[in-house]
Amino acid sequence: MRGGAGDVATGADPLDDLDRVLFHEGEIHRRLDELAERITADFRGKPLTVLAILNGSLVFMADLLRRIPLPLQLGCVSAASYHGGVESSGVLELGGLDRRVVDGRHVLLLDDILDSGLTLSGVAGRIREESDPLEIRSCVLLAKRKERPVEVAADYVAFEIRDEFVVGYGLDFAERYRNLPCVGVLRADVIAAAGR
Ligand code: XMP
Repeated sequence: MRGGAGDVATGADPLDDLDRVLFHEGEIHRRLDELAERITADFRGKPLTVLAILNGSLVFMADLLRRIPLPLQLGCVSAASYHGGVESSGVLELGGLDRRVVDGRHVLLLDDILDSGLTLSGVAGRIREESDPLEIRSCVLLAKRKERPVEVAADYVAFEIRDEFVVGYGLDFAERYRNLPCVGVLRADVIAAAGR
């Protein structure tokens, strides 16, 4: 049941804040089975490192990795856009890169969602500048169908979605909803109430 504007973000069940569910847990897991099969075939016999971009990809990463029966290594990186003044400089700060798991290896970058594409292209660019991988490919849970300011496409995409704000299965709104087992669209009044 949906709460009124007064109990926005205070309800006992975060699911109540969704306008609708796009992908239930079972559907996500079935799709991850397919993606993992492709990834396993593509990287078999190659030194593979999965690099998860924090924090949004954590749930996706945990479920995907357990479906890939390869001797892979795992790393996590953080990405933050640097705002030098009123306008963003467009510089992306990369944190946590461990060259020991990247140099001379095939890197599969994992992110929760491909939206503007700035994060994925920025992270890949910084990894190339700061280390020496054999190649970098990328895998996202969601990709929005939209024009992007940068030319970037993920090599593996679980689901394509319309250009609307989604949460759950790792994705947050103001750090909430990451633990929802599904992906859904937030109610407009929940978003509006947060802006008050
Ligand atoms: P882009 O591709 O725009 O995405 O660099 C960067 C990060 O922004 C977050 N993001 C979202 N988070 N719902 C969310 O909960 C969304 O619809 C959404 N779009 C972008 C996400 O962390 C992504 O990695």
